[in-house]
Amino acid sequence: MSFLFLGRNKNNKKRKDSNLAVLPQHIGIIMDGNGRWAKKRGLPRSAGHTAGAKNFRTITRYCSDIGIKYLTVYAFSTENWKRPQEEVSALMNLFKQYLEEALSDFKDDSIVVRFIGDTTAFSPELQELIKRTQEESANRSGMVLNIAMNYGSRDEIIMAVKNISQKVSSGEVSLEDIDENMISSSLYTAGQPDPDLVIRPSGEYRISNFLLWQSAYTEYIILDKLWPDFSTDDLDNALVEFNNRNRRFGGV
Ligand code: IPE
Ligand code: IPE
Ligand code: MG
Repeated sequence: MSFLFLGRNKNNKKRKDSNLAVLPQHIGIIMDGNGRWAKKRGLPRSAGHTAGAKNFRTITRYCSDIGIKYLTVYAFSTENWKRPQEEVSALMNLFKQYLEEALSDFKDDSIVVRFIGDTTAFSPELQELIKRTQEESANRSGMVLNIAMNYGSRDEIIMAVKNISQKVSSGEVSLEDIDENMISSSLYTAGQPDPDLVIRPSGEYRISNFLLWQSAYTEYIILDKLWPDFSTDDLDNALVEFNNRNRRFGGV
């Protein structure tokens, strides 16, 4: 894939605009396949997660460089607690390490870091880091990065239903007021556009509880490649494929 460098973004970095007519505003990535990546190399699964975390930084910076406005990465699902204790602990340690690094790392790119999911389930230390990362990056002007941790879309929808129900019982809103906007703005992604494109490496053809409500009309790209091997060229290819899709939203 050859891209033309057409300009520079606000950080004066080369911008790979190429001849793409539409750049998705919001991209979601299901960062899947770390375990298989490690297994193929005879390494423990945790080594795959380390490689995946490294790639997360590369791809995040790239998305910011090319002018993506919102990026949502699926890092840990509400179902991932089912994994062996050893793997869960390795993941928690990795989150701590990467968040500390991300605090300074993403500063140069002016990235706003947000967390979606029930973060109260994490250790007090990790919760503190999450809070600090969000607070310190809140006033930046660049790409919004949502890190989905202990995220499950069904959980998110239950939370929204409870919030709205409470408002109905207290009389703050009436049943007739409940519409798509109200539900969207009761989700973790309130105020953000729905994802235009979700990329799932690892070759699995499923959603795995990721952004169910938000991806009603999202374009999906499934790649037969494991997340640690997913490159910036793969992202470029996905953007070209996205441009070739005909999004009809139910129309003609
Ligand atoms: C994704 O990789 C990372 C997390 C779910 C935390 P996996 O660990 O699911 O890797 P595979 O799918 O087993 O290869
Ligand atoms: C989805 O991957 C969750 C993340 C990448 C964080 P999983 O590996 O948990 O999904 P399934 O089990 O293959 O559906
Ligand atoms: Mg997996």
